[in-house]
Amino acid sequence: MKEHTSAKHPSTEITTGSMVSKETLPIDETPEILSLRPCLLSEYIGQSAVVETLRIAIEAALKRKEPLDHILFHGPPGLGKTTLAHIIAREMGANLNTTSGPAMDKGGDLLGLLTHLEEGDVLFVDEIHRLPKVIEEFLYPAMEDFAVDFVFDKGVHARSHRYRLKRFVLVGATTRVGLLSSPLRDRFGLFRTLDFYSLEDLGLIIKRSALLLDIAIDEEASDELARRSRGTPRIANRLLKRVRDFTQVRSDGKIRKQTVIEALRLEGVDEKGLTNLDRSFLQTIMEFYSGGPVGIEAIAATLQEETDTLVDVVEPYLLKIGFVTRTSQGRKASEKAFSHLGFPYRHTHKGPGN
Ligand code: ADE
Repeated sequence: MKEHTSAKHPSTEITTGSMVSKETLPIDETPEILSLRPCLLSEYIGQSAVVETLRIAIEAALKRKEPLDHILFHGPPGLGKTTLAHIIAREMGANLNTTSGPAMDKGGDLLGLLTHLEEGDVLFVDEIHRLPKVIEEFLYPAMEDFAVDFVFDKGVHARSHRYRLKRFVLVGATTRVGLLSSPLRDRFGLFRTLDFYSLEDLGLIIKRSALLLDIAIDEEASDELARRSRGTPRIANRLLKRVRDFTQVRSDGKIRKQTVIEALRLEGVDEKGLTNLDRSFLQTIMEFYSGGPVGIEAIAATLQEETDTLVDVVEPYLLKIGFVTRTSQGRKASEKAFSHLGFPYRHTHKGPGN
């Protein structure tokens, strides 16, 4: 049932449920970016409160020779939820099994994964808010009692059989904790939200990654790149690779501020780190909907984008930097956003879609 996707670290065997195809894995699951990830808590930069909580929980569990409590991570994409799941398995000396909510569509899928887990194994479920309801219900006894209930036959002949599981650790990740049912949320002993990284922490991550990629970068350049990374290590590492290409081809081999600016102009990334999609999102609110408020569905329809992409990927950072506000009537572009895009500020009180 399980197939090996990687066994990068001797003590951490990483396996993936067979229902997860490569296509369903996020971009940073590629081995190249995996190698920029920290493997241990001591290498992890930022999210200090989360790291400290994990350090204590892991040390206590190891002392008691017990598995950790189940852990739920919440936050926008690219902030380290998957990385932390890898680190937890590594620090516990356990195997990591990964799957995702949308990849599981039958009860049998989850059953297969659960029954193959060894004592202490970590099961990482990405996008756990997208687990089908029937599968979620299988998880309740699995998480609480380390058991799953099979039901044989139907109607008056129905019989139930309880199958014992090894004690495992479920690590769930979600961009939308509000979509998780409360019975599922309540079964996690630890729940932590990851926030956008400070410029200082991003600068440190960029310098660490530059070292691993064997490319020189000066302080001004790493600051500039940090400012354009939307508070997100995954973006910082991706942009660093583009800037490295540019530097090696068009420059003297050392990344400087000017090379960051020129390389990122080609990528369509502006001085605040906004991409073409971010700017189209803002422009739609400003031009089509007079600055808002406007419902997210209307923006998605105008942009011909998935609503989920806008809510999960685009909006969180725009909210964080105060370019967008969410009101009960919909999204509004702020004065700061108008001035960033060079449009005259328009302020309206119209309802959504008007
Ligand atoms: N690479 C990506 N995220 C990182 C982090 N939080 N610390 C160190 N390196 C990273």
